[in-house]
Amino acid sequence: MRIAVIRKGHFNAAHQLYVPSWTREKNERIFGKCANPNFHGHNYELEVTVIGEIDPVTGMLINLKTLKDIITEHIEEYFDHKNLNLEFEEFKDSPPTTENLCIVIYNRLRTVLDEKYDVKVRLSETPRNFAEYPVN
Ligand code: NI
Repeated sequence: MRIAVIRKGHFNAAHQLYVPSWTREKNERIFGKCANPNFHGHNYELEVTVIGEIDPVTGMLINLKTLKDIITEHIEEYFDHKNLNLEFEEFKDSPPTTENLCIVIYNRLRTVLDEKYDVKVRLSETPRNFAEYPVN
């Protein structure tokens, strides 16, 4: 029987959304305040969904302590209090939007979580905006 477990995470990071080949006016029109020149922070909230079969002996899908430690080590400690534009190769050529950050987080988790699991990541940059990856 397949089931999902979900673990939440949290980190703070700074960014700026800015396409260098556009004018400042166009960047402000498209990205709003996220285009401000001196960066700004967001309180990112994360939900990691792990899907798979319950182990009949333990009754668990995944040890939640293990999942917590993976999120702490590979996501929270990696991104917390950093500047997404300046400190990450991942955003050298792609804007650190919620969408792109969600995919980067998914890819990092995918490399450490057992391949027997399906994984889904939901990321919010503000309480009302979310991105989710992957989607069908
Ligand atoms: Ni922003």
